[in-house]
Amino acid sequence: MKSVESLRSQRWLAPDTMRGYSHRARLQQTGYRREDFAQRPVIAIVNTWSDISTCHVHLRERASKVREGIIRAGGFPLELPAMSLGEVMVKPTTMLYRNFLAMEVEELLRSHPVDGAVLMGGCDKTTPGLLMGAFSMNIPAVYIPAGATGNAYFKGEKIGTGTHTAKFWAERRAGRLNDQDWIAIESAMTRTVGTCNTMGTASTMTAVAEVLGMTLPGAQSIPAADSAHPRMCTEAGELAVQLVWQDRCPSQIVSLASFRNAMRCVLALGGSTNACVHLPAMAGRLGIDLPLQLWESLNQTIPLLANLMPAGAHLMEDFYRAGGLQALLAQISEQLELETPTVNGKTLGQNISAAVIYDTDVIRTVQTALSREPAIAVLTGNLAPDGAIIKPTAASAQLLHHRGPALVFKNHADLSARIDDPNLNVSAQSVLVLQNAGPVGGPGMPEWGNLPIPKKLLAQGVRDMLRISDARMSGTHFGTCVLHVCPESAIGGPLALVQDGDEIELNLTARSLTLRVAAEVLQQRREKLIQDQQDKGGSSTKQRGYTALYKRHVQQAHLGADLDFLTGSDASPEPDIF
Ligand code: FES
Repeated sequence: MKSVESLRSQRWLAPDTMRGYSHRARLQQTGYRREDFAQRPVIAIVNTWSDISTCHVHLRERASKVREGIIRAGGFPLELPAMSLGEVMVKPTTMLYRNFLAMEVEELLRSHPVDGAVLMGGCDKTTPGLLMGAFSMNIPAVYIPAGATGNAYFKGEKIGTGTHTAKFWAERRAGRLNDQDWIAIESAMTRTVGTCNTMGTASTMTAVAEVLGMTLPGAQSIPAADSAHPRMCTEAGELAVQLVWQDRCPSQIVSLASFRNAMRCVLALGGSTNACVHLPAMAGRLGIDLPLQLWESLNQTIPLLANLMPAGAHLMEDFYRAGGLQALLAQISEQLELETPTVNGKTLGQNISAAVIYDTDVIRTVQTALSREPAIAVLTGNLAPDGAIIKPTAASAQLLHHRGPALVFKNHADLSARIDDPNLNVSAQSVLVLQNAGPVGGPGMPEWGNLPIPKKLLAQGVRDMLRISDARMSGTHFGTCVLHVCPESAIGGPLALVQDGDEIELNLTARSLTLRVAAEVLQQRREKLIQDQQDKGGSSTKQRGYTALYKRHVQQAHLGADLDFLTGSDASPEPDIF
Protein backbone atom coordinates (compact mmCIF):
# COMPACT_ATOMS: atom_id res chain seq x y z
CA MET A 1 0.00 0.00 0.00
CA LYS A 2 1.34 3.37 -1.02
CA SER A 3 1.58 6.25 1.49
CA VAL A 4 0.44 9.79 0.73
CA GLU A 5 4.02 10.99 1.09
CA SER A 6 5.25 8.61 -1.59
CA LEU A 7 2.72 9.77 -4.19
CA ARG A 8 4.57 11.08 -7.22
CA SER A 9 2.33 14.17 -7.38
CA GLN A 10 3.35 15.18 -3.87
CA ARG A 11 6.73 16.25 -5.25
CA TRP A 12 4.84 19.04 -7.04
CA LEU A 13 2.04 19.75 -4.59
CA ALA A 14 3.34 19.19 -1.05
CA PRO A 15 6.58 21.15 -0.55
CA ASP A 16 6.51 24.35 1.47
CA THR A 17 8.59 26.11 -1.17
CA MET A 18 8.01 28.84 -3.70
CA ARG A 19 7.42 26.24 -6.44
CA GLY A 20 5.08 24.15 -4.26
CA TYR A 21 3.18 27.34 -3.50
CA SER A 22 2.95 28.17 -7.24
CA HIS A 23 1.65 24.71 -8.14
CA ARG A 24 -1.05 24.85 -5.46
CA ALA A 25 -1.99 28.43 -6.30
CA ARG A 26 -2.36 27.67 -9.99
CA LEU A 27 -4.58 24.67 -9.36
CA GLN A 28 -6.80 26.90 -7.23
CA GLN A 29 -6.92 29.29 -10.18
CA THR A 30 -8.98 26.61 -11.93
CA GLY A 31 -11.64 26.77 -9.21
CA TYR A 32 -10.54 23.84 -7.09
CA ARG A 33 -10.08 24.27 -3.34
CA ARG A 34 -6.83 23.29 -1.64
CA GLU A 35 -8.55 20.31 0.04
CA ASP A 36 -9.82 19.03 -3.34
CA PHE A 37 -6.33 17.96 -4.37
CA ALA A 38 -4.25 17.92 -1.16
CA GLN A 39 -3.03 14.47 -0.26
CA ARG A 40 -5.05 12.82 -3.03
CA PRO A 41 -3.76 10.69 -5.92
CA VAL A 42 -3.80 12.75 -9.10
CA ILE A 43 -5.26 10.77 -11.99
CA ALA A 44 -4.69 11.89 -15.57
CA ILE A 45 -7.57 11.26 -17.94
CA VAL A 46 -5.64 10.96 -21.19
CA ASN A 47 -8.35 11.61 -23.74
CA THR A 48 -8.03 11.16 -27.51
CA TRP A 49 -11.29 13.03 -28.13
CA SER A 50 -11.48 15.58 -30.93
CA ASP A 51 -14.13 16.87 -33.31
CA ILE A 52 -12.42 15.17 -36.24
CA SER A 53 -11.81 11.84 -34.48
CA THR A 54 -15.32 10.73 -35.33
CA CYS A 55 -15.11 7.38 -33.53
CA HIS A 56 -14.23 9.20 -30.29
CA VAL A 57 -16.73 12.03 -30.43
CA HIS A 58 -18.51 10.75 -27.28
CA LEU A 59 -15.32 10.56 -25.23
CA ARG A 60 -15.54 14.24 -24.26
CA GLU A 61 -18.77 13.58 -22.37
CA ARG A 62 -17.56 10.17 -21.11
CA ALA A 63 -14.53 11.83 -19.53
CA SER A 64 -16.96 13.52 -17.12
CA LYS A 65 -18.08 10.04 -16.00
CA VAL A 66 -14.44 9.07 -15.43
CA ARG A 67 -14.02 12.28 -13.44
CA GLU A 68 -17.01 11.33 -11.22
CA GLY A 69 -15.43 7.96 -10.49
CA ILE A 70 -12.05 9.46 -9.63
CA ILE A 71 -13.54 12.02 -7.24
CA ARG A 72 -15.83 9.44 -5.66
CA ALA A 73 -12.82 7.22 -4.94
CA GLY A 74 -10.87 10.08 -3.35
CA GLY A 75 -8.66 11.06 -6.27
CA PHE A 76 -8.14 14.30 -8.14
CA PRO A 77 -8.81 14.21 -11.91
CA LEU A 78 -6.84 16.09 -14.55
CA GLU A 79 -7.97 15.74 -18.16
CA LEU A 80 -5.02 15.80 -20.57
CA PRO A 81 -5.90 15.77 -24.28
CA ALA A 82 -3.69 13.70 -26.56
CA MET A 83 -3.43 13.37 -30.34
CA SER A 84 -6.77 11.96 -31.48
CA LEU A 85 -5.74 9.92 -34.57
CA GLY A 86 -9.10 9.45 -36.29
CA GLU A 87 -8.31 6.58 -38.64
CA VAL A 88 -10.20 7.81 -41.67
CA MET A 89 -9.22 11.48 -41.59
CA VAL A 90 -5.53 11.50 -40.67
CA LYS A 91 -3.17 11.46 -43.65
CA PRO A 92 -1.00 9.98 -44.92
CA THR A 93 -1.78 7.31 -42.30
CA THR A 94 -2.42 7.15 -38.56
CA MET A 95 0.31 4.52 -38.33
CA LEU A 96 2.87 7.24 -38.98
CA TYR A 97 1.62 8.88 -35.78
CA ARG A 98 1.07 5.85 -33.52
CA ASN A 99 4.58 6.30 -32.14
CA PHE A 100 4.02 10.06 -31.90
CA LEU A 101 0.95 9.44 -29.69
CA ALA A 102 2.89 6.91 -27.61
CA MET A 103 5.68 9.42 -27.10
CA GLU A 104 3.16 12.14 -26.26
CA VAL A 105 1.41 9.97 -23.66
CA GLU A 106 4.69 9.02 -22.02
CA GLU A 107 5.87 12.62 -21.86
CA LEU A 108 2.47 13.98 -20.72
CA LEU A 109 2.51 11.56 -17.81
CA ARG A 110 6.15 12.18 -16.96
CA SER A 111 6.07 15.97 -17.10
CA HIS A 112 2.93 16.50 -15.02
CA PRO A 113 2.10 15.80 -11.35
CA VAL A 114 0.36 12.50 -12.12
CA ASP A 115 0.11 9.32 -10.03
CA GLY A 116 -2.07 7.21 -12.29
CA ALA A 117 -3.89 7.36 -15.61
CA VAL A 118 -7.13 6.51 -17.32
CA LEU A 119 -6.49 6.09 -21.03
CA MET A 120 -9.41 6.80 -23.37
CA GLY A 121 -9.20 5.60 -26.96
CA GLY A 122 -10.40 2.95 -29.36
CA CYS A 123 -9.94 4.01 -32.97
CA ASP A 124 -7.24 1.80 -34.45
CA LYS A 125 -3.84 3.27 -33.50
CA THR A 126 -5.02 4.98 -30.33
CA THR A 127 -5.13 1.75 -28.32
CA PRO A 128 -1.54 0.68 -28.99
CA GLY A 129 -0.35 4.30 -28.87
CA LEU A 130 -1.92 4.94 -25.46
CA LEU A 131 -0.76 1.64 -24.01
CA MET A 132 2.78 1.93 -25.40
CA GLY A 133 3.14 5.32 -23.73
CA ALA A 134 1.67 4.09 -20.44
CA PHE A 135 3.89 0.98 -20.51
CA SER A 136 6.99 3.11 -21.01
CA MET A 137 6.00 5.43 -18.16
CA ASN A 138 4.88 2.42 -16.09
CA ILE A 139 2.54 4.14 -13.67
CA PRO A 140 -0.82 2.63 -12.60
CA ALA A 141 -3.21 2.84 -15.55
CA VAL A 142 -6.52 1.53 -16.79
CA TYR A 143 -7.70 1.64 -20.38
CA ILE A 144 -11.23 2.59 -21.53
CA PRO A 145 -12.23 1.33 -25.00
CA ALA A 146 -14.51 3.74 -26.84
CA GLY A 147 -16.93 0.93 -27.78
CA ALA A 148 -18.13 0.02 -31.24
CA THR A 149 -20.83 1.78 -33.24
CA GLY A 150 -24.17 -0.04 -33.53
CA ASN A 151 -25.38 -2.37 -36.25
CA ALA A 152 -26.04 -0.74 -39.62
CA TYR A 153 -28.33 -1.84 -42.47
CA PHE A 154 -28.90 -0.94 -46.09
CA LYS A 155 -32.03 -2.26 -47.84
CA GLY A 156 -32.33 -4.87 -45.13
CA GLU A 157 -28.75 -6.07 -45.46
CA LYS A 158 -26.44 -5.85 -42.44
CA ILE A 159 -23.50 -3.66 -43.41
CA GLY A 160 -20.18 -3.37 -41.66
CA THR A 161 -17.96 -0.28 -41.48
CA GLY A 162 -14.93 -0.66 -43.68
CA THR A 163 -15.88 -4.14 -44.90
CA HIS A 164 -18.82 -2.90 -46.93
CA THR A 165 -17.05 0.31 -47.90
CA ALA A 166 -14.60 -1.86 -49.83
CA LYS A 167 -17.36 -4.08 -51.22
CA PHE A 168 -19.58 -1.21 -52.32
CA TRP A 169 -16.66 0.65 -53.89
CA ALA A 170 -15.74 -2.42 -55.94
CA GLU A 171 -19.35 -2.64 -57.15
CA ARG A 172 -19.35 1.08 -57.92
CA ARG A 173 -16.16 0.75 -59.99
CA ALA A 174 -17.67 -2.23 -61.77
CA GLY A 175 -20.64 0.00 -62.69
CA ARG A 176 -23.13 -1.98 -60.60
CA LEU A 177 -24.06 0.62 -57.97
CA ASN A 178 -26.13 3.62 -59.05
CA ASP A 179 -25.73 7.22 -57.80
CA GLN A 180 -28.85 7.11 -55.66
CA ASP A 181 -27.78 4.02 -53.71
CA TRP A 182 -24.19 5.21 -53.45
CA ILE A 183 -25.35 8.44 -51.75
CA ALA A 184 -27.89 6.65 -49.56
CA ILE A 185 -25.26 4.21 -48.27
CA GLU A 186 -23.07 7.12 -47.18
CA SER A 187 -25.53 8.12 -44.47
CA ALA A 188 -26.47 4.56 -43.49
CA MET A 189 -22.98 3.26 -42.77
CA THR A 190 -22.28 4.60 -39.27
CA ARG A 191 -25.40 5.26 -37.22
CA THR A 192 -24.14 5.86 -33.68
CA VAL A 193 -20.98 7.08 -32.01
CA GLY A 194 -18.19 4.56 -31.65
CA THR A 195 -15.50 2.64 -33.46
CA CYS A 196 -15.96 0.42 -36.52
CA ASN A 197 -18.58 -2.25 -35.87
CA THR A 198 -16.62 -5.01 -37.61
CA MET A 199 -13.74 -7.10 -36.24
CA GLY A 200 -11.31 -4.57 -37.62
CA THR A 201 -8.24 -3.15 -36.00
CA ALA A 202 -10.18 -1.15 -33.41
CA SER A 203 -12.10 -4.12 -32.01
CA THR A 204 -9.01 -6.33 -32.29
CA MET A 205 -6.82 -3.96 -30.32
CA THR A 206 -9.42 -3.21 -27.65
CA ALA A 207 -9.73 -6.99 -27.20
CA VAL A 208 -5.95 -7.14 -26.87
CA ALA A 209 -6.11 -4.43 -24.19
CA GLU A 210 -8.66 -6.45 -22.23
CA VAL A 211 -6.75 -9.73 -22.50
CA LEU A 212 -3.54 -8.00 -21.45
CA GLY A 213 -5.42 -7.12 -18.28
CA MET A 214 -5.56 -3.36 -18.84
CA THR A 215 -9.39 -2.88 -18.89
CA LEU A 216 -12.26 -3.73 -16.62
CA PRO A 217 -13.52 -7.22 -17.50
CA GLY A 218 -16.08 -7.10 -20.30
CA ALA A 219 -15.31 -3.49 -21.22
CA GLN A 220 -14.20 -4.29 -24.78
CA SER A 221 -17.59 -5.45 -26.01
CA ILE A 222 -19.86 -2.72 -24.63
CA PRO A 223 -21.28 -0.71 -27.55
CA ALA A 224 -20.41 2.99 -27.44
CA ALA A 225 -24.06 4.05 -27.27
CA ASP A 226 -25.07 1.57 -24.55
CA SER A 227 -25.73 2.97 -21.07
CA ALA A 228 -23.33 0.36 -19.71
CA HIS A 229 -20.51 2.34 -21.32
CA PRO A 230 -20.70 5.47 -19.13
CA ARG A 231 -21.11 3.21 -16.09
CA MET A 232 -17.93 1.40 -17.08
CA CYS A 233 -16.18 4.78 -17.42
CA THR A 234 -17.12 5.74 -13.83
CA GLU A 235 -15.89 2.39 -12.55
CA ALA A 236 -12.61 2.78 -14.43
CA GLY A 237 -12.09 6.16 -12.75
CA GLU A 238 -12.61 4.59 -9.33
CA LEU A 239 -10.29 1.72 -10.19
CA ALA A 240 -7.47 4.05 -11.26
CA VAL A 241 -7.41 5.55 -7.75
CA GLN A 242 -7.32 2.10 -6.16
CA LEU A 243 -4.48 1.05 -8.48
CA VAL A 244 -2.42 4.00 -7.31
CA TRP A 245 -2.86 3.10 -3.63
CA GLN A 246 -2.06 -0.52 -4.47
CA ASP A 247 0.97 0.68 -6.45
CA ARG A 248 0.10 -1.72 -9.30
CA CYS A 249 1.88 -0.73 -12.49
CA PRO A 250 1.55 -2.21 -16.00
CA SER A 251 4.81 -4.12 -15.64
CA GLN A 252 3.25 -6.04 -12.71
CA ILE A 253 0.20 -6.92 -14.80
CA VAL A 254 1.38 -7.48 -18.37
CA SER A 255 3.84 -10.30 -19.11
CA LEU A 256 4.93 -12.48 -22.00
CA ALA A 257 2.12 -14.88 -21.01
CA SER A 258 -0.39 -12.00 -21.31
CA PHE A 259 0.88 -11.30 -24.83
CA ARG A 260 0.57 -14.97 -25.78
CA ASN A 261 -3.02 -14.86 -24.52
CA ALA A 262 -3.63 -11.72 -26.58
CA MET A 263 -2.35 -13.49 -29.70
CA ARG A 264 -4.60 -16.49 -29.02
CA CYS A 265 -7.50 -14.09 -28.64
CA VAL A 266 -6.72 -12.36 -31.97
CA LEU A 267 -6.69 -15.77 -33.67
CA ALA A 268 -10.05 -16.80 -32.19
CA LEU A 269 -11.54 -13.43 -33.17
CA GLY A 270 -10.17 -13.52 -36.71
CA GLY A 271 -8.67 -10.18 -35.76
CA SER A 272 -6.79 -7.61 -37.75
CA THR A 273 -3.34 -8.27 -39.19
CA ASN A 274 -2.40 -4.92 -37.67
CA ALA A 275 -2.03 -6.83 -34.40
CA CYS A 276 1.16 -8.29 -35.90
CA VAL A 277 2.83 -4.86 -35.77
CA HIS A 278 1.18 -3.47 -32.67
CA LEU A 279 1.79 -6.41 -30.33
CA PRO A 280 5.59 -6.53 -30.71
CA ALA A 281 5.70 -2.74 -30.38
CA MET A 282 3.65 -2.83 -27.16
CA ALA A 283 5.66 -5.75 -25.78
CA GLY A 284 8.89 -3.96 -26.67
CA ARG A 285 7.95 -1.10 -24.34
CA LEU A 286 8.04 -3.60 -21.46
CA GLY A 287 11.28 -5.21 -22.65
CA ILE A 288 9.43 -8.30 -23.91
CA ASP A 289 10.49 -9.89 -27.20
CA LEU A 290 7.60 -11.13 -29.36
CA PRO A 291 9.01 -12.79 -32.50
CA LEU A 292 6.74 -12.96 -35.54
CA GLN A 293 7.05 -16.75 -35.66
CA LEU A 294 5.23 -16.98 -32.30
CA TRP A 295 2.00 -16.68 -34.30
CA GLU A 296 2.88 -19.97 -35.97
CA SER A 297 3.34 -21.81 -32.69
CA LEU A 298 -0.12 -20.64 -31.54
CA ASN A 299 -2.26 -20.64 -34.68
CA GLN A 300 -2.50 -24.44 -35.03
CA THR A 301 -4.58 -24.82 -31.87
CA ILE A 302 -6.90 -21.80 -32.08
CA PRO A 303 -9.77 -21.95 -34.59
CA LEU A 304 -11.80 -18.94 -35.70
CA LEU A 305 -14.77 -18.64 -33.34
CA ALA A 306 -16.10 -15.11 -33.91
CA ASN A 307 -18.62 -14.97 -36.74
CA LEU A 308 -17.92 -11.29 -37.34
CA MET A 309 -17.18 -9.31 -40.48
CA PRO A 310 -14.93 -9.26 -42.41
CA ALA A 311 -14.43 -13.04 -42.00
CA GLY A 312 -18.01 -13.73 -40.86
CA ALA A 313 -21.54 -12.37 -40.98
CA HIS A 314 -22.24 -10.36 -37.82
CA LEU A 315 -21.23 -7.12 -36.13
CA MET A 316 -19.93 -5.98 -32.74
CA GLU A 317 -23.39 -5.20 -31.33
CA ASP A 318 -24.31 -8.84 -32.05
CA PHE A 319 -21.08 -9.93 -30.37
CA TYR A 320 -22.01 -8.03 -27.18
CA ARG A 321 -25.50 -9.54 -27.17
CA ALA A 322 -24.01 -13.01 -27.70
CA GLY A 323 -21.83 -12.78 -24.59
CA GLY A 324 -18.95 -10.66 -25.85
CA LEU A 325 -15.23 -11.15 -25.53
CA GLN A 326 -15.50 -12.94 -22.18
CA ALA A 327 -17.70 -15.67 -23.69
CA LEU A 328 -15.31 -16.10 -26.59
CA LEU A 329 -12.30 -16.36 -24.27
CA ALA A 330 -14.11 -18.97 -22.20
CA GLN A 331 -14.27 -21.19 -25.31
CA ILE A 332 -10.48 -21.24 -25.60
CA SER A 333 -9.80 -21.33 -21.86
CA GLU A 334 -7.88 -24.60 -22.22
CA GLN A 335 -5.37 -22.84 -24.45
CA LEU A 336 -5.13 -19.67 -22.35
CA GLU A 337 -2.68 -19.04 -19.52
CA LEU A 338 -5.39 -18.28 -16.99
CA GLU A 339 -3.21 -17.04 -14.13
CA THR A 340 -2.26 -13.76 -15.83
CA PRO A 341 -3.27 -10.79 -13.64
CA THR A 342 -5.63 -7.96 -14.61
CA VAL A 343 -6.30 -4.44 -13.33
CA ASN A 344 -9.29 -5.48 -11.21
CA GLY A 345 -7.05 -7.69 -9.03
CA LYS A 346 -8.43 -10.94 -10.43
CA THR A 347 -6.80 -13.27 -12.89
CA LEU A 348 -7.97 -13.59 -16.47
CA GLY A 349 -9.29 -17.05 -15.58
CA GLN A 350 -11.36 -15.68 -12.70
CA ASN A 351 -12.76 -12.89 -14.86
CA ILE A 352 -14.02 -15.25 -17.57
CA SER A 353 -15.06 -18.18 -15.35
CA ALA A 354 -18.80 -17.39 -15.45
CA ALA A 355 -18.98 -16.29 -19.10
CA VAL A 356 -21.50 -18.04 -21.35
CA ILE A 357 -22.55 -17.76 -25.00
CA TYR A 358 -26.09 -16.50 -25.65
CA ASP A 359 -25.97 -16.89 -29.42
CA THR A 360 -23.93 -19.79 -30.77
CA ASP A 361 -24.08 -18.51 -34.33
CA VAL A 362 -22.25 -15.29 -33.44
CA ILE A 363 -19.76 -16.87 -31.03
CA ARG A 364 -18.93 -20.40 -32.02
CA THR A 365 -17.67 -23.21 -29.82
CA VAL A 366 -14.48 -25.04 -30.73
CA GLN A 367 -16.65 -27.84 -32.15
CA THR A 368 -18.65 -25.49 -34.40
CA ALA A 369 -15.74 -23.19 -35.37
CA LEU A 370 -16.27 -20.85 -38.31
CA SER A 371 -12.94 -21.90 -39.80
CA ARG A 372 -9.98 -24.08 -38.91
CA GLU A 373 -7.67 -22.10 -41.17
CA PRO A 374 -5.36 -19.94 -39.06
CA ALA A 375 -6.60 -16.37 -38.79
CA ILE A 376 -3.01 -15.18 -39.16
CA ALA A 377 -0.17 -17.06 -40.86
CA VAL A 378 3.49 -16.12 -41.18
CA LEU A 379 5.24 -16.61 -44.52
CA THR A 380 8.94 -16.65 -45.26
CA GLY A 381 11.00 -17.22 -48.38
CA ASN A 382 13.41 -15.40 -50.66
CA LEU A 383 10.85 -12.63 -51.13
CA ALA A 384 10.42 -12.08 -47.38
CA PRO A 385 13.52 -13.25 -45.48
CA ASP A 386 12.33 -11.60 -42.24
CA GLY A 387 8.73 -12.66 -42.75
CA ALA A 388 5.41 -11.52 -44.14
CA ILE A 389 1.88 -12.21 -43.01
CA ILE A 390 -1.44 -13.21 -44.50
CA LYS A 391 -4.96 -13.57 -43.13
CA PRO A 392 -6.20 -16.85 -44.63
CA THR A 393 -9.66 -16.48 -43.10
CA ALA A 394 -10.22 -13.28 -45.10
CA ALA A 395 -8.70 -14.72 -48.31
CA SER A 396 -10.01 -16.81 -51.21
CA ALA A 397 -9.21 -20.49 -50.64
CA GLN A 398 -8.21 -21.07 -54.29
CA LEU A 399 -5.58 -18.31 -54.11
CA LEU A 400 -3.82 -19.59 -51.00
CA HIS A 401 -1.76 -21.86 -53.25
CA HIS A 402 -1.08 -19.79 -56.32
CA ARG A 403 1.64 -19.18 -58.86
CA GLY A 404 1.47 -16.32 -61.32
CA PRO A 405 3.30 -13.51 -63.11
CA ALA A 406 4.04 -10.31 -61.19
CA LEU A 407 2.56 -6.97 -62.17
CA VAL A 408 4.64 -4.41 -60.32
CA PHE A 409 3.68 -0.93 -59.12
CA LYS A 410 6.65 1.16 -57.99
CA ASN A 411 4.66 3.08 -55.39
CA HIS A 412 1.12 4.14 -54.56
CA ALA A 413 1.11 6.98 -57.08
CA ASP A 414 2.05 4.51 -59.83
CA LEU A 415 -0.73 2.19 -58.64
CA SER A 416 -3.34 4.94 -58.68
CA ALA A 417 -2.24 6.12 -62.13
CA ARG A 418 -2.31 2.73 -63.87
CA ILE A 419 -4.63 0.30 -62.07
CA ASP A 420 -7.68 1.19 -64.15
CA ASP A 421 -5.82 1.54 -67.45
CA PRO A 422 -7.79 -0.50 -70.02
CA ASN A 423 -4.46 -1.53 -71.61
CA LEU A 424 -2.99 -2.87 -68.36
CA ASN A 425 -1.32 -6.23 -69.03
CA VAL A 426 -3.15 -8.15 -66.32
CA SER A 427 -5.23 -11.28 -65.87
CA ALA A 428 -6.89 -12.95 -62.90
CA GLN A 429 -3.74 -15.09 -62.60
CA SER A 430 -1.47 -12.07 -62.18
CA VAL A 431 0.11 -11.28 -58.83
CA LEU A 432 -0.20 -7.56 -58.03
CA VAL A 433 2.92 -6.23 -56.32
CA LEU A 434 3.18 -2.86 -54.59
CA GLN A 435 6.64 -1.55 -53.66
CA ASN A 436 7.71 1.31 -51.41
CA ALA A 437 4.75 1.16 -49.03
CA GLY A 438 6.49 -0.03 -45.85
CA PRO A 439 7.46 1.82 -42.65
CA VAL A 440 10.16 3.91 -44.40
CA GLY A 441 8.74 3.79 -47.91
CA GLY A 442 5.11 4.80 -47.19
CA PRO A 443 6.14 6.32 -44.88
CA GLY A 444 4.22 4.72 -42.05
CA MET A 445 3.06 1.50 -43.76
CA PRO A 446 -0.28 2.86 -45.01
CA GLU A 447 -3.20 0.47 -45.41
CA TRP A 448 -2.61 0.05 -49.14
CA GLY A 449 -2.05 -3.72 -48.94
CA ASN A 450 -5.37 -4.75 -50.47
CA LEU A 451 -4.56 -3.21 -53.84
CA PRO A 452 -7.71 -2.51 -55.84
CA ILE A 453 -8.68 -5.10 -58.43
CA PRO A 454 -8.08 -3.60 -61.92
CA LYS A 455 -11.29 -2.18 -63.35
CA LYS A 456 -11.18 -4.34 -66.44
CA LEU A 457 -11.06 -7.48 -64.29
CA LEU A 458 -13.85 -6.21 -62.03
CA ALA A 459 -16.01 -5.94 -65.15
CA GLN A 460 -15.23 -9.60 -65.84
CA GLY A 461 -16.44 -10.56 -62.37
CA VAL A 462 -13.02 -10.94 -60.70
CA ARG A 463 -13.26 -9.92 -57.03
CA ASP A 464 -9.99 -11.22 -55.57
CA MET A 465 -6.39 -11.66 -56.68
CA LEU A 466 -3.10 -12.46 -54.98
CA ARG A 467 -1.58 -9.16 -53.86
CA ILE A 468 1.80 -8.61 -52.21
CA SER A 469 3.24 -5.54 -50.52
CA ASP A 470 5.21 -4.19 -47.60
CA ALA A 471 2.11 -2.17 -46.60
CA ARG A 472 -0.61 -3.04 -44.09
CA MET A 473 -4.29 -3.77 -44.72
CA SER A 474 -7.30 -2.42 -42.85
CA GLY A 475 -8.61 -4.98 -40.38
CA THR A 476 -12.08 -4.42 -41.80
CA HIS A 477 -11.00 -5.47 -45.30
CA PHE A 478 -10.63 -8.81 -46.99
CA GLY A 479 -8.74 -10.40 -49.85
CA THR A 480 -5.76 -12.64 -50.55
CA CYS A 481 -3.17 -10.10 -49.52
CA VAL A 482 0.38 -10.83 -48.38
CA LEU A 483 1.34 -7.95 -46.11
CA HIS A 484 4.23 -6.49 -44.08
CA VAL A 485 6.89 -8.01 -46.35
CA CYS A 486 10.20 -7.66 -44.46
CA PRO A 487 12.63 -6.18 -45.07
CA GLU A 488 10.69 -3.56 -46.98
CA SER A 489 11.55 -2.51 -50.52
CA ALA A 490 12.53 1.07 -49.61
CA ILE A 491 15.54 -0.20 -47.66
CA GLY A 492 16.54 -2.71 -50.34
CA GLY A 493 14.46 -5.75 -49.38
CA PRO A 494 13.96 -8.37 -52.12
CA LEU A 495 10.50 -6.93 -52.90
CA ALA A 496 12.40 -4.04 -54.55
CA LEU A 497 13.90 -6.50 -57.06
CA VAL A 498 10.62 -7.85 -58.46
CA GLN A 499 9.90 -6.99 -62.10
CA ASP A 500 6.86 -7.42 -64.33
CA GLY A 501 6.47 -11.02 -65.47
CA ASP A 502 8.54 -12.60 -62.67
CA GLU A 503 6.87 -15.70 -61.35
CA ILE A 504 5.78 -15.55 -57.71
CA GLU A 505 4.48 -18.51 -55.72
CA LEU A 506 2.45 -18.47 -52.53
CA ASN A 507 2.14 -21.81 -50.73
CA LEU A 508 0.15 -21.44 -47.53
CA THR A 509 0.70 -25.03 -46.47
CA ALA A 510 4.47 -24.59 -46.67
CA ARG A 511 4.13 -21.01 -45.33
CA SER A 512 6.34 -19.90 -48.19
CA LEU A 513 6.51 -16.90 -50.48
CA THR A 514 8.93 -17.43 -53.35
CA LEU A 515 10.19 -15.26 -56.16
CA ARG A 516 11.05 -17.75 -58.90
CA VAL A 517 14.02 -15.84 -60.29
CA ALA A 518 17.58 -17.17 -60.27
CA ALA A 519 19.80 -15.89 -57.47
CA GLU A 520 22.39 -14.56 -59.96
CA VAL A 521 19.73 -12.49 -61.74
CA LEU A 522 18.53 -11.07 -58.43
CA GLN A 523 22.11 -10.19 -57.52
CA GLN A 524 22.53 -8.31 -60.83
CA ARG A 525 19.30 -6.44 -60.19
CA ARG A 526 20.45 -5.55 -56.68
CA GLU A 527 23.74 -4.16 -57.98
CA LYS A 528 21.87 -2.08 -60.56
CA LEU A 529 19.46 -0.82 -57.89
CA ILE A 530 22.35 0.31 -55.69
CA GLN A 531 24.05 1.96 -58.65
CA ASP A 532 20.86 3.79 -59.65
CA GLN A 533 20.41 5.07 -56.09
CA GLN A 534 23.99 6.30 -55.98
CA ASP A 535 23.54 8.03 -59.33
CA LYS A 536 20.43 9.76 -58.04
CA GLY A 537 22.30 10.85 -54.90
CA GLY A 538 19.48 9.85 -52.54
CA SER A 539 15.99 11.21 -52.24
CA SER A 540 15.32 14.63 -53.71
CA THR A 541 12.38 15.18 -51.37
CA LYS A 542 13.38 17.30 -48.41
CA GLN A 543 12.42 15.70 -45.11
CA ARG A 544 11.60 17.72 -42.04
CA GLY A 545 9.93 17.50 -38.66
CA TYR A 546 8.42 14.36 -37.25
CA THR A 547 8.45 12.49 -40.57
CA ALA A 548 12.22 12.96 -40.85
CA LEU A 549 12.68 11.67 -37.29
CA TYR A 550 10.34 8.73 -37.99
CA LYS A 551 12.06 7.64 -41.19
CA ARG A 552 15.46 7.80 -39.54
CA HIS A 553 14.49 5.69 -36.54
CA VAL A 554 11.56 3.44 -37.46
CA GLN A 555 12.15 -0.29 -37.17
CA GLN A 556 10.84 -2.90 -39.59
CA ALA A 557 7.32 -4.34 -39.33
CA HIS A 558 8.32 -7.70 -37.81
CA LEU A 559 9.81 -5.75 -34.87
CA GLY A 560 6.68 -3.63 -34.45
CA ALA A 561 7.67 -0.51 -36.41
CA ASP A 562 8.43 1.38 -33.21
CA LEU A 563 11.12 4.05 -33.09
CA ASP A 564 14.41 2.45 -32.07
CA PHE A 565 15.03 4.90 -29.22
CA LEU A 566 11.65 4.19 -27.60
CA THR A 567 11.95 0.42 -27.15
CA GLY A 568 13.02 -1.34 -23.98
CA SER A 569 11.89 -1.00 -20.38
CA ASP A 570 14.52 1.42 -19.10
CA ALA A 571 12.67 4.32 -17.51
CA SER A 572 13.60 7.90 -18.32
CA PRO A 573 14.59 9.87 -15.21
CA GLU A 574 11.88 11.74 -13.32
CA PRO A 575 11.94 15.50 -14.00
CA ASP A 576 13.68 17.82 -11.57
CA ILE A 577 11.23 20.06 -9.76
CA PHE A 578 12.62 23.44 -9.00
FE1 FES B 1 -12.16 4.58 -36.13
FE2 FES B 1 -12.53 2.30 -37.70
S1 FES B 1 -12.32 4.38 -38.31
S2 FES B 1 -12.34 2.51 -35.58
